[in-house]
Amino acid sequence: MVDFEGFYRGGPLVEGMPDVGVPWDIGGPQPAVVEWEAAGRFRGHVLDAGCGTGDNAIFLAARGHRVTGVDIAPTAIDIARSRAVGIDPDSTPSGGRAAPTPIIPARSDTSGDLTWAVGDAATLTGQFDTVLASALFHCLPPDRRPALARTLRNAAADGAFLNLTCLANLEAPFQVSEPELRTALTEAGWDITRFERGSVAVAGVPGLPTLPVWLVEATAAKATATATATTPRADPATPPSTRVSSDPGAAPRSR
Ligand SMILES: C[S@@+](CC[C@H](N)C(=O)[O-])C[C@H]1O[C@@H](n2cnc3c(N)ncnc32)[C@H](O)[C@@H]1O
Repeated sequence: MVDFEGFYRGGPLVEGMPDVGVPWDIGGPQPAVVEWEAAGRFRGHVLDAGCGTGDNAIFLAARGHRVTGVDIAPTAIDIARSRAVGIDPDSTPSGGRAAPTPIIPARSDTSGDLTWAVGDAATLTGQFDTVLASALFHCLPPDRRPALARTLRNAAADGAFLNLTCLANLEAPFQVSEPELRTALTEAGWDITRFERGSVAVAGVPGLPTLPVWLVEATAAKATATATATTPRADPATPPSTRVSSDPGAAPRSR
């Protein structure tokens, strides 16, 4: 199992893998997230499961969405929170290896609503209207992935949207086949409406600007099991909500 907190603090992602920084920290939202947003696939309360350093959640909040970003790595949440308020993450007590690149400075013109929480996406509960799982599914060991799909379903209201990317057919430990993903989602109660190959942008790997992913859209089928309706455990150090700008001028940065 990958130690993401250790990785954010400077350890290896996978033993023997060259250190290329945080490859998914591309300095802005993933293009797929921007496209989903433009297509209206974010509505109501959005869960960003495995939000990493927060740029997808911050982008969505800047577009006026209510977003809760959850990550298992406290350092990732520290960086995300700092970016959202324009504070250099290197000045936070726990530091962090990702580049200090705030995209939205603290402002008073707020309408988005952004909450950060440290937690395991495979155990959280809720009633979210949209679930974003950007490059999360492959991070879990294969035997925990079906439970993640079920948990995300149980954290979603009936009819909620799921927007998911995960690395496609790479080497272990990040290998996910189409049948594996389809089965996990379908058996968890997600009706798949789109399943195709796409790509995610990566940073810091020379000659490798993107990686292949499964790009999936799904809708939460009417629940047959009883789903609990609580919110994810909030990081005690996390303020209940961090306001960010929804000023259209606060566009996502790019490198
Ligand atoms: C590949 S990164 C993707 C980050 C972000 N979603 C993006 O698209 O840039 C995967 C993230 O998922 C987090 N993660 C891994 N397992 C998790 C789990 N069980 N629950 C919550 N977050 C998890 C990692 O800490 C990491 O930040």
